[in-house]
Amino acid sequence: MIIQPRTRGFICLTSHPEGCAQNVKNQIDYVKSKGEIKDGPKKVLVIGASTGFGIASRISAAFGSGAATIGVFFEKPAAEGKPGTAGWYNTAAFEKEASAAGLYAKSINGDAFSDDIKKQTIDLIKADLGQVDLIIYSLASPRRTHPKTGVAYSSVLKPIAVPFSDKTVDFHTGVVSDITINPIDNEEEIENTIAVMGGEDWKFWIEDLKAAGVLAEGVKTVAYSYIGPELTYPIYRNGTIGKAKDNLEGTVPALNELLADLNGVSYVSVNKALVTQSSSAIPVVPLYISLLYKVMKEKGIHEGCIEQMQRLFAERLFNGADVQLDEKGRIRVDDLEMRADVQAEVSELWKQVSTETLPTISDIAGYRDEFFHLFGFNFPEIDYTKDSNELTMIPSIA
Ligand code: NAI
Ligand code: NA
Repeated sequence: MIIQPRTRGFICLTSHPEGCAQNVKNQIDYVKSKGEIKDGPKKVLVIGASTGFGIASRISAAFGSGAATIGVFFEKPAAEGKPGTAGWYNTAAFEKEASAAGLYAKSINGDAFSDDIKKQTIDLIKADLGQVDLIIYSLASPRRTHPKTGVAYSSVLKPIAVPFSDKTVDFHTGVVSDITINPIDNEEEIENTIAVMGGEDWKFWIEDLKAAGVLAEGVKTVAYSYIGPELTYPIYRNGTIGKAKDNLEGTVPALNELLADLNGVSYVSVNKALVTQSSSAIPVVPLYISLLYKVMKEKGIHEGCIEQMQRLFAERLFNGADVQLDEKGRIRVDDLEMRADVQAEVSELWKQVSTETLPTISDIAGYRDEFFHLFGFNFPEIDYTKDSNELTMIPSIA
């Protein structure tokens, strides 16, 4: 089958297996080029392991410190002349490279919010690894069925109090327009978003893993958050998703208490704004990212998911010294994004940006390129006019 990108809005409906493998290989090469992460994790569970920060975390653990990894995700194999999802091929490619390097890697495909997938994961840890010493929590989902009540929650991306108007971009066409996003209709929309993207499921995971005795002495767990610039506060940090992130961050003390007798610890890492399947769905944010990329690339401080996660592991979590935290107890790898000179230049560009100026003052081309990379497209190494032979690539699903 010849596979070309087919997009609908901010979604790409097709993925290219060899291209996804190239994406994974590039990330592995990067991690190897940075050298061994001394005292890194050895047995790692990544929840949300197939794309974005999750696959980058898995690669950093495996190829940075030789870790055995179990990955949990929700992806689809190829069916009826339709390729599988990018995360499916990313994982198949990752496992092939891990196996060639003599590293254990197995995966579980299903709803991480469910009790059943938690149990399957625990059984796999017991059977193959005994215990894990690092749990990365990198889920991003628009909905969650609560495992105890069966209630299905949907998250919303809305401001809380007043309508929010600002510029946004259609990154396919490069058209910059004004958008107004109405605030929540009721408080329930905040609660629903917290139920999906807040900390409860992370806590359920750690509780279940602990009760099963599969957490090692000194275990660490990390979940990912975002803050970003003031200009996105109404839609992000002060919006419904921000309330969920407050809740996620607020879960840390309870987890620390739970892990205390194992000398374990939990962290939230605040990461940089990056092009992923999840962030491309948020209004306004892609325009901000395209300006941010321009400024950070010019300053030589641009990072993608893999650079972020390699640095999180090597310089924050496993640096051989204390883990540096901000005043709210969070790890910060958004330090370069939030640097005063970077933010000052981005907000200056924000004032100037329009459909006409976009091609010159932003890195919209880089944004688009990275969006297609997420699905295995736009890699110079791949001949996209050729039949894809790797449609049958499968991860070793436990
Ligand atoms: P992503 O969309 O690339 O990855 C989401 C992962 O969750 C995938 O592996 C997917 O298979 C998995 N997943 C979703 N629903 C699932 C379910 N029900 N069961 C099992 N697996 C499921 O997203 P991204 O951007 O890597 O996000 C990961 C975390 O990083 C999120 O907490 C996000 O808020 C955070 N973050 C993202 C930033 C960004 O700019 N993209 C910036 C800072 C933090
Ligand atoms: Na992820």
